[in-house]
Amino acid sequence: MSRAPVIARNLPALRQTLDDYRAKGETLGLVPTMGALHEGHLALVREARRRCQRVAVSIFVNPTQFAPHEDFDAYPRTWDSDVAKLTAEGVDVIWHPDVKTMYPSGFASRIVTEGPAVVDLEDRFRPHFFGGVATVVGKLFIQCRPDVAVFGEKDYQQLRVVTQMARDLDLGVNVVGLETVRETDGLAMSSRNVYLSAEERATAPVLYRTMQETAARLRGGGDLRATLAEGTSRISQAGFAVDYFEARHAETLQPITTFGDQPVRLLVAAKIGTTRLIDNIGA
Ligand code: PAJ
Repeated sequence: MSRAPVIARNLPALRQTLDDYRAKGETLGLVPTMGALHEGHLALVREARRRCQRVAVSIFVNPTQFAPHEDFDAYPRTWDSDVAKLTAEGVDVIWHPDVKTMYPSGFASRIVTEGPAVVDLEDRFRPHFFGGVATVVGKLFIQCRPDVAVFGEKDYQQLRVVTQMARDLDLGVNVVGLETVRETDGLAMSSRNVYLSAEERATAPVLYRTMQETAARLRGGGDLRATLAEGTSRISQAGFAVDYFEARHAETLQPITTFGDQPVRLLVAAKIGTTRLIDNIGA
Protein backbone atom coordinates (compact mmCIF):
# COMPACT_ATOMS: atom_id res chain seq x y z
CA MET A 1 0.00 0.00 0.00
CA SER A 2 1.58 3.30 -1.11
CA ARG A 3 1.77 6.30 1.16
CA ALA A 4 -0.79 9.01 0.34
CA PRO A 5 0.70 11.87 -1.65
CA VAL A 6 1.01 15.35 -0.16
CA ILE A 7 -1.74 17.45 -1.71
CA ALA A 8 -0.54 21.05 -2.08
CA ARG A 9 -3.15 23.67 -2.98
CA ASN A 10 -1.08 26.81 -2.42
CA LEU A 11 2.50 27.87 -3.09
CA PRO A 12 3.81 27.89 0.50
CA ALA A 13 2.65 24.28 0.96
CA LEU A 14 4.19 23.25 -2.36
CA ARG A 15 7.49 25.00 -1.64
CA GLN A 16 7.79 23.55 1.84
CA THR A 17 7.46 20.00 0.54
CA LEU A 18 9.74 20.47 -2.46
CA ASP A 19 12.35 22.40 -0.43
CA ASP A 20 12.51 19.43 1.96
CA TYR A 21 13.32 17.12 -0.95
CA ARG A 22 15.94 19.49 -2.32
CA ALA A 23 17.56 19.86 1.10
CA LYS A 24 18.01 16.08 1.11
CA GLY A 25 19.52 16.23 -2.39
CA GLU A 26 16.61 14.30 -3.95
CA THR A 27 15.80 14.76 -7.62
CA LEU A 28 12.28 15.77 -8.71
CA GLY A 29 10.28 14.69 -11.75
CA LEU A 30 7.18 16.69 -12.70
CA VAL A 31 4.23 15.49 -14.76
CA PRO A 32 1.92 18.39 -15.70
CA THR A 33 -1.71 17.31 -16.33
CA MET A 34 -5.25 18.59 -16.42
CA GLY A 35 -6.51 15.53 -14.51
CA ALA A 36 -9.10 13.03 -15.79
CA LEU A 37 -6.15 10.68 -15.63
CA HIS A 38 -5.83 7.60 -17.84
CA GLU A 39 -3.08 5.06 -18.60
CA GLY A 40 -1.31 7.60 -20.86
CA HIS A 41 -0.83 9.96 -17.93
CA LEU A 42 0.21 7.09 -15.67
CA ALA A 43 2.90 6.02 -18.15
CA LEU A 44 4.38 9.53 -17.78
CA VAL A 45 4.25 9.19 -14.00
CA ARG A 46 6.10 5.86 -14.17
CA GLU A 47 8.77 7.40 -16.43
CA ALA A 48 9.24 10.26 -13.94
CA ARG A 49 9.51 7.69 -11.16
CA ARG A 50 12.18 5.77 -13.11
CA ARG A 51 14.23 8.92 -13.60
CA CYS A 52 13.81 10.74 -10.28
CA GLN A 53 13.65 10.05 -6.57
CA ARG A 54 10.54 12.21 -6.08
CA VAL A 55 7.54 12.67 -8.37
CA ALA A 56 5.11 15.58 -8.46
CA VAL A 57 1.99 15.60 -10.63
CA SER A 58 0.13 18.83 -11.24
CA ILE A 59 -3.61 18.73 -11.82
CA PHE A 60 -4.86 22.06 -13.12
CA VAL A 61 -7.45 22.58 -15.83
CA ASN A 62 -5.85 25.66 -17.31
CA PRO A 63 -8.48 28.19 -18.46
CA THR A 64 -6.05 30.25 -20.55
CA GLN A 65 -5.48 27.47 -23.09
CA PHE A 66 -9.20 27.12 -23.86
CA ALA A 67 -10.96 29.53 -26.24
CA PRO A 68 -14.39 30.80 -25.10
CA HIS A 69 -16.17 28.35 -27.42
CA GLU A 70 -14.09 25.37 -26.21
CA ASP A 71 -14.82 22.82 -23.51
CA PHE A 72 -13.30 24.37 -20.34
CA ASP A 73 -16.52 24.00 -18.29
CA ALA A 74 -17.32 20.55 -19.67
CA TYR A 75 -13.72 19.27 -19.42
CA PRO A 76 -13.90 16.03 -17.36
CA ARG A 77 -12.94 16.45 -13.71
CA THR A 78 -12.42 13.20 -11.78
CA TRP A 79 -10.51 14.30 -8.67
CA ASP A 80 -11.19 11.34 -6.35
CA SER A 81 -10.25 8.73 -8.90
CA ASP A 82 -7.19 10.79 -9.98
CA VAL A 83 -5.94 10.87 -6.37
CA ALA A 84 -6.52 7.11 -6.01
CA LYS A 85 -4.54 6.40 -9.19
CA LEU A 86 -1.65 8.66 -8.19
CA THR A 87 -1.59 7.13 -4.70
CA ALA A 88 -1.33 3.67 -6.25
CA GLU A 89 1.61 4.93 -8.37
CA GLY A 90 3.42 6.15 -5.26
CA VAL A 91 3.40 9.81 -6.35
CA ASP A 92 4.90 12.09 -3.69
CA VAL A 93 3.09 15.37 -4.35
CA ILE A 94 -0.07 16.46 -6.14
CA TRP A 95 0.06 20.16 -6.99
CA HIS A 96 -3.56 21.27 -7.29
CA PRO A 97 -3.85 25.06 -7.32
CA ASP A 98 -7.17 26.76 -8.05
CA VAL A 99 -7.51 29.34 -10.80
CA LYS A 100 -7.04 32.30 -8.41
CA THR A 101 -3.81 30.82 -7.07
CA MET A 102 -2.42 30.36 -10.58
CA TYR A 103 -3.79 33.63 -11.97
CA PRO A 104 -4.31 36.07 -9.07
CA SER A 105 -6.36 39.13 -9.84
CA GLY A 106 -4.23 41.59 -11.84
CA PHE A 107 -2.23 38.80 -13.52
CA ALA A 108 -0.84 40.38 -16.70
CA SER A 109 2.08 38.37 -18.11
CA ARG A 110 2.33 35.79 -20.81
CA ILE A 111 5.08 33.67 -22.39
CA VAL A 112 5.07 34.04 -26.16
CA THR A 113 6.50 31.11 -28.09
CA GLU A 114 7.59 31.04 -31.71
CA GLY A 115 9.40 28.36 -33.75
CA PRO A 116 7.38 25.14 -33.41
CA ALA A 117 4.46 27.15 -31.94
CA VAL A 118 3.84 28.95 -35.25
CA VAL A 119 3.81 26.30 -37.95
CA ASP A 120 0.16 26.28 -39.04
CA LEU A 121 -0.88 23.13 -37.19
CA GLU A 122 -2.66 23.41 -33.80
CA ASP A 123 -1.76 27.12 -33.73
CA ARG A 124 -3.88 27.66 -36.82
CA PHE A 125 -7.00 26.08 -35.33
CA ARG A 126 -6.42 27.10 -31.69
CA PRO A 127 -4.60 30.46 -31.90
CA HIS A 128 -4.84 31.09 -28.13
CA PHE A 129 -3.56 27.60 -27.22
CA PHE A 130 0.23 27.75 -27.01
CA GLY A 131 0.22 31.13 -25.25
CA GLY A 132 -1.87 29.50 -22.53
CA VAL A 133 0.17 26.29 -22.43
CA ALA A 134 3.57 28.00 -22.42
CA THR A 135 2.55 30.41 -19.68
CA VAL A 136 1.12 27.73 -17.40
CA VAL A 137 3.94 25.25 -18.04
CA GLY A 138 6.49 28.05 -17.52
CA LYS A 139 4.83 28.82 -14.19
CA LEU A 140 4.75 25.13 -13.21
CA PHE A 141 8.47 24.80 -13.99
CA ILE A 142 9.31 27.91 -11.95
CA GLN A 143 7.05 26.84 -9.06
CA CYS A 144 8.33 23.27 -8.88
CA ARG A 145 11.89 23.60 -10.30
CA PRO A 146 11.90 19.95 -11.41
CA ASP A 147 15.01 18.23 -12.73
CA VAL A 148 12.91 16.36 -15.29
CA ALA A 149 9.44 17.03 -16.74
CA VAL A 150 7.68 14.28 -18.67
CA PHE A 151 5.27 15.05 -21.51
CA GLY A 152 3.43 12.81 -23.98
CA GLU A 153 4.15 12.61 -27.69
CA LYS A 154 0.35 12.45 -28.02
CA ASP A 155 0.41 16.27 -27.99
CA TYR A 156 3.42 16.41 -30.25
CA GLN A 157 3.46 20.11 -31.10
CA GLN A 158 3.03 20.92 -27.40
CA LEU A 159 6.04 18.69 -26.60
CA ARG A 160 8.17 20.53 -29.18
CA VAL A 161 7.02 23.95 -27.92
CA VAL A 162 7.72 23.12 -24.26
CA THR A 163 11.12 21.60 -25.12
CA GLN A 164 12.07 24.75 -27.05
CA MET A 165 10.81 27.06 -24.30
CA ALA A 166 12.73 25.23 -21.55
CA ARG A 167 15.90 25.48 -23.62
CA ASP A 168 15.42 29.11 -24.71
CA LEU A 169 14.59 30.39 -21.23
CA ASP A 170 17.28 28.35 -19.42
CA LEU A 171 14.63 26.84 -17.17
CA GLY A 172 17.03 24.06 -16.14
CA VAL A 173 14.48 21.32 -16.79
CA ASN A 174 15.18 18.23 -18.87
CA VAL A 175 11.97 17.82 -20.92
CA VAL A 176 11.38 14.16 -21.76
CA GLY A 177 8.85 12.97 -24.36
CA LEU A 178 7.11 9.62 -23.99
CA GLU A 179 5.44 7.49 -26.65
CA THR A 180 1.64 7.68 -26.99
CA VAL A 181 -0.32 5.06 -25.04
CA ARG A 182 -3.14 3.59 -27.14
CA GLU A 183 -6.27 1.53 -26.68
CA THR A 184 -5.99 -1.99 -28.15
CA ASP A 185 -7.63 -0.81 -31.40
CA GLY A 186 -5.06 1.97 -31.81
CA LEU A 187 -7.04 4.99 -30.60
CA ALA A 188 -4.72 7.29 -28.64
CA MET A 189 -5.89 7.53 -25.04
CA SER A 190 -7.27 10.98 -24.26
CA SER A 191 -9.33 12.55 -21.50
CA ARG A 192 -11.62 13.77 -24.29
CA ASN A 193 -12.43 10.24 -25.54
CA VAL A 194 -15.28 10.16 -22.98
CA TYR A 195 -17.12 12.64 -25.24
CA LEU A 196 -17.38 10.06 -28.05
CA SER A 197 -20.67 8.25 -28.68
CA ALA A 198 -20.44 4.47 -29.15
CA GLU A 199 -20.60 4.94 -32.92
CA GLU A 200 -17.94 7.67 -32.94
CA ARG A 201 -15.75 5.56 -30.67
CA ALA A 202 -15.97 2.69 -33.16
CA THR A 203 -14.91 5.02 -36.00
CA ALA A 204 -12.12 6.83 -34.15
CA PRO A 205 -9.28 4.27 -34.72
CA VAL A 206 -9.34 5.22 -38.42
CA LEU A 207 -6.99 8.07 -37.50
CA TYR A 208 -4.22 5.76 -36.31
CA ARG A 209 -4.84 3.16 -39.03
CA THR A 210 -4.65 5.81 -41.73
CA MET A 211 -1.45 7.28 -40.34
CA GLN A 212 0.13 3.83 -40.25
CA GLU A 213 -0.89 3.07 -43.83
CA THR A 214 0.27 6.48 -45.00
CA ALA A 215 3.64 6.02 -43.30
CA ALA A 216 4.05 2.59 -44.92
CA ARG A 217 3.22 3.99 -48.36
CA LEU A 218 5.62 6.89 -47.97
CA ARG A 219 8.37 4.53 -46.86
CA GLY A 220 7.58 2.50 -49.98
CA GLY A 221 8.19 5.55 -52.18
CA GLY A 222 4.63 6.90 -52.51
CA ASP A 223 4.22 10.48 -53.69
CA LEU A 224 4.03 12.75 -50.62
CA ARG A 225 1.12 14.99 -51.63
CA ALA A 226 -0.96 12.28 -53.27
CA THR A 227 -0.50 9.88 -50.36
CA LEU A 228 -1.50 12.51 -47.78
CA ALA A 229 -4.51 13.50 -49.92
CA GLU A 230 -5.64 9.87 -50.07
CA GLY A 231 -5.26 9.56 -46.31
CA THR A 232 -7.24 12.76 -45.75
CA SER A 233 -10.10 11.53 -47.90
CA ARG A 234 -10.13 8.16 -46.12
CA ILE A 235 -10.48 9.93 -42.76
CA SER A 236 -13.20 12.23 -44.16
CA GLN A 237 -15.12 9.30 -45.62
CA ALA A 238 -15.14 7.64 -42.22
CA GLY A 239 -17.08 10.65 -40.90
CA PHE A 240 -14.43 13.08 -39.64
CA ALA A 241 -14.08 16.75 -40.57
CA VAL A 242 -10.30 16.97 -41.05
CA ASP A 243 -8.51 20.09 -39.78
CA TYR A 244 -5.16 18.85 -41.05
CA PHE A 245 -3.31 15.68 -41.99
CA GLU A 246 0.30 16.55 -42.69
CA ALA A 247 3.87 15.29 -42.81
CA ARG A 248 6.32 17.59 -41.06
CA HIS A 249 9.97 17.66 -40.01
CA ALA A 250 9.87 15.83 -36.67
CA GLU A 251 11.87 18.45 -34.78
CA THR A 252 11.15 21.83 -36.36
CA LEU A 253 7.62 20.87 -37.50
CA GLN A 254 8.33 22.74 -40.72
CA PRO A 255 6.68 21.45 -43.92
CA ILE A 256 8.68 18.94 -45.93
CA THR A 257 8.72 18.54 -49.66
CA THR A 258 10.41 15.16 -49.94
CA PHE A 259 10.34 12.03 -47.86
CA GLY A 260 13.46 10.16 -46.84
CA ASP A 261 16.37 12.29 -45.74
CA GLN A 262 15.00 13.77 -42.49
CA PRO A 263 12.98 12.60 -39.47
CA VAL A 264 9.28 12.89 -40.35
CA ARG A 265 6.18 13.06 -38.19
CA LEU A 266 2.66 12.57 -39.48
CA LEU A 267 0.17 14.72 -37.59
CA VAL A 268 -3.60 14.70 -37.75
CA ALA A 269 -6.42 16.72 -36.18
CA ALA A 270 -10.03 15.98 -37.01
CA LYS A 271 -13.49 16.41 -35.56
CA ILE A 272 -16.09 13.70 -35.24
CA GLY A 273 -19.46 15.03 -34.08
CA THR A 274 -18.48 17.72 -31.60
CA THR A 275 -15.24 16.05 -30.46
CA ARG A 276 -11.88 17.13 -31.84
CA LEU A 277 -9.16 14.46 -31.73
CA ILE A 278 -5.44 14.82 -32.45
CA ASP A 279 -2.83 12.14 -33.04
CA ASN A 280 0.58 11.64 -34.64
CA ILE A 281 3.22 9.01 -35.39
CA GLY A 282 6.81 8.91 -36.58
CA ALA A 283 6.98 7.99 -40.28
P1 PAJ B 1 -3.37 16.72 -20.50
O1 PAJ B 1 -4.19 16.68 -21.74
O2 PAJ B 1 -4.00 16.30 -19.20
O3 PAJ B 1 -2.10 15.86 -20.75
C1 PAJ B 1 -1.08 15.79 -19.76
C2 PAJ B 1 0.10 15.06 -20.36
O4 PAJ B 1 -0.30 13.73 -20.69
C3 PAJ B 1 0.60 15.69 -21.66
O5 PAJ B 1 2.02 15.69 -21.68
C4 PAJ B 1 0.03 14.78 -22.73
O6 PAJ B 1 0.77 14.76 -23.92
C5 PAJ B 1 0.11 13.44 -22.00
N1 PAJ B 1 -0.79 12.44 -22.62
C6 PAJ B 1 -2.11 12.59 -22.90
N2 PAJ B 1 -2.58 11.47 -23.51
C7 PAJ B 1 -1.53 10.62 -23.63
C8 PAJ B 1 -1.37 9.31 -24.18
N3 PAJ B 1 -2.37 8.66 -24.75
N4 PAJ B 1 -0.14 8.74 -24.12
C9 PAJ B 1 0.91 9.40 -23.55
N5 PAJ B 1 0.81 10.65 -23.01
C10 PAJ B 1 -0.39 11.24 -23.05
O7 PAJ B 1 -1.51 18.41 -22.11
C11 PAJ B 1 -2.08 18.93 -21.15
O8 PAJ B 1 -2.83 18.22 -20.26
C12 PAJ B 1 -1.97 20.42 -20.86
O9 PAJ B 1 -1.82 21.13 -22.07
C13 PAJ B 1 -0.81 20.78 -19.88
C14 PAJ B 1 0.56 20.38 -20.46
C15 PAJ B 1 -1.02 20.09 -18.52
C16 PAJ B 1 -0.80 22.31 -19.64
O10 PAJ B 1 -2.00 22.76 -19.14
